Amino acid sequence: MLELSNIGRRYRVAEREVVALEDISVTLPQGSFTTVVGRSGCGKTTLLRILAGLTTPSEGTLDYGANASPRIGVVFQDARLMPWLSVSDNVGFGLKGRFEQGVVETRCLEVLELVGLENFHAAMPSQLSGGMAQRVAIARALVMEPDLLLLDEPFAALDAFTRRAMQNELIDIWQKRRPTIVFVTHDVEEAVLLGQHVLELDQGRLVGQEPIESAYPRDPTDPAVARHRRDILARLLGPQASPTSSLSTLTKETL
Ligand SMILES: Nc1ncnc2c1ncn2[C@@H]1O[C@H](COP(=O)(O)OP(=O)(O)OP(=O)(O)O)[C@@H](O)[C@H]1O
Ligand SMILES: [Mg+2]
Repeated sequence: MLELSNIGRRYRVAEREVVALEDISVTLPQGSFTTVVGRSGCGKTTLLRILAGLTTPSEGTLDYGANASPRIGVVFQDARLMPWLSVSDNVGFGLKGRFEQGVVETRCLEVLELVGLENFHAAMPSQLSGGMAQRVAIARALVMEPDLLLLDEPFAALDAFTRRAMQNELIDIWQKRRPTIVFVTHDVEEAVLLGQHVLELDQGRLVGQEPIESAYPRDPTDPAVARHRRDILARLLGPQASPTSSLSTLTKETL
């Protein structure tokens, strides 16, 4: 159980105070899959960084529950691989020196298999496509066997086909390993396809929480999925979000 109580974060930018997060209270059950959705600048990355322990909140408390120092894996929007290291060495970097070389190699191969890149273990990052590099970044987070896996718009730069495949892969991995996942996205459909629970952020505030009970893998054309998507958009965009208005179509695409 991961508990955020009245979390706030303020920044001082050019003499002005920016409220990135305000009064966020939420409980994430162990092994759950939560998605966080909202428009650019609403505080998603700040929330993820606070969960990762990379940013300290200005107010409120973060309680990791029974396991006070969980292993945390973070996947950023860009893969951030070390270009001079092979795929395998990138994945195993955090394990080096802590385990025997043979154990590191076995664990790297295992997670590369999970993300479908076992044949690329000796490749260099420059030889990978964007989607493959992102899968390596996911493997690098998974190899640490995280209790908490935090992903910041990890598929935002991918084409629709690769993105769908990666979404399904992530669901598979979660079902096999069951880490607690928090997945940030600005795409409402992605939030609904992946999350058991969708947190809706707007201007630093939690403006809605939507539980999604549909079975995995989810189909975007399933009426239940479409209804959740519509309800979330209505809360995030306000009353203009009627499905027929061209303004709402435009805003939906750009949210
Ligand atoms: N290190 C920082 N210093 C100053 N202000 C910051 C810092 N990090 C974030 N902010 C501010 O906090 C607010 C929320 O930023 P954040 O990066 O969390 O948004 P986001 O929802 O992740 O946006 P995006 O979808 O564009 O990635 C913004 O107004 C941003 O300018
Ligand atoms: Mg962000």
